[in-house]
Amino acid sequence: MLSEVLLVSAPGKVILHGEHAVVHGKVALAVALNLRTFLRLQPHSNGRVGLNLPNIGVRRAWDVASLQLLDTSFLGHGDSAALTAKHVEKLKEVAGFPKDCVDPEHLAVLAFLYLYLSICQSQRALPSLDITVWSELPTGAGLGSSAAYSVCLAAALLTACEEIPNPLKDGEAAGRWTEENLELINKWAFQGERVIHGNPSGVDNAVSTWGGALRYQQGKISSLKRPPVLKILLINTKVPRSTKVLVANVRSRLLKFPEIVAPLLTSIDAISLECERVLGEMAAAPTPEHYLTLEELIDMNQHHLNALGVGHASLDQLCQVTTAHGLHSKLTGAGGGGCGITLLRPDRETEAQRGRETRPRPHS
Ligand code: PMV
Repeated sequence: MLSEVLLVSAPGKVILHGEHAVVHGKVALAVALNLRTFLRLQPHSNGRVGLNLPNIGVRRAWDVASLQLLDTSFLGHGDSAALTAKHVEKLKEVAGFPKDCVDPEHLAVLAFLYLYLSICQSQRALPSLDITVWSELPTGAGLGSSAAYSVCLAAALLTACEEIPNPLKDGEAAGRWTEENLELINKWAFQGERVIHGNPSGVDNAVSTWGGALRYQQGKISSLKRPPVLKILLINTKVPRSTKVLVANVRSRLLKFPEIVAPLLTSIDAISLECERVLGEMAAAPTPEHYLTLEELIDMNQHHLNALGVGHASLDQLCQVTTAHGLHSKLTGAGGGGCGITLLRPDRETEAQRGRETRPRPHS
């Protein structure tokens, strides 16, 4: 068991194209943000395990001895692929949480308990430790805050239990895990996401684990080769929403109107592929035509996402305001509020800067 303090951080993400469609096996393109979540793990010998989440006002502690007595056989033994909705219900019961709790505070604690009890069951006794997690990412805004939280927890707990080595070498300020270790972190982080979101595609935790710009499809992750530098304005509508509910609504719409909704998902897939192709071309020499194509793809996808039912009046307003400045925007993440992205053309930067003075206000 680790004896020194461990500091871990993981980034949030922006989905360029493919949100919702990715849940149904289609391609998504996503990039890591330079807004991060941080975790500090302090090992103890006081017989307690504590979780502090100052951003959402959570401060909980448990006696390790009482957690040790819980019947957690349903969690399986390191089989991180086995988590189901039934397991989450059982976990709520074990944690003494109401069956119908869906608020971010309860779900964050549940994800912690799940990862702590599952990862640490490899130890002879559950470890005594204090974990504090804080973030630059707004919660429930489509920027992958829950994935960054799950990635930090998985990385810290796997390191504390020596399932993966501490990558920090003597005298170095920062370290990075090997690909193999990152795969294990990502696998467990996906389970944390499942506790919080029910049926996530896995794109958020993949980007948060590996960083950079990724193409994601059904668990297959590849880096975008030499992505061009794009200037993207991130705007937070500050309208809260639940990814879990929005994903479930799209599923219901697909079941109700398969002939109508399946082609929308196929079309979003084609938009992601076309965007990937254009980004590849732009790496060599970006032209105004490339920007024109990217703008058209953004507009078409935004209409598709509206047709899937994940739009919101605040996002419509965002699109109208940016259109008035000659810019193109779409929602990013689950929609229903949250954040939108606006592509800034290099030649229109001054106009875009003026756009920042209008409402809704940019998040960063
Ligand atoms: O809004 P976020 O950050 O939770 O992103 C959700 C992305 C979805 O495609 C809507 C869901 C998923 O699991 O991929």
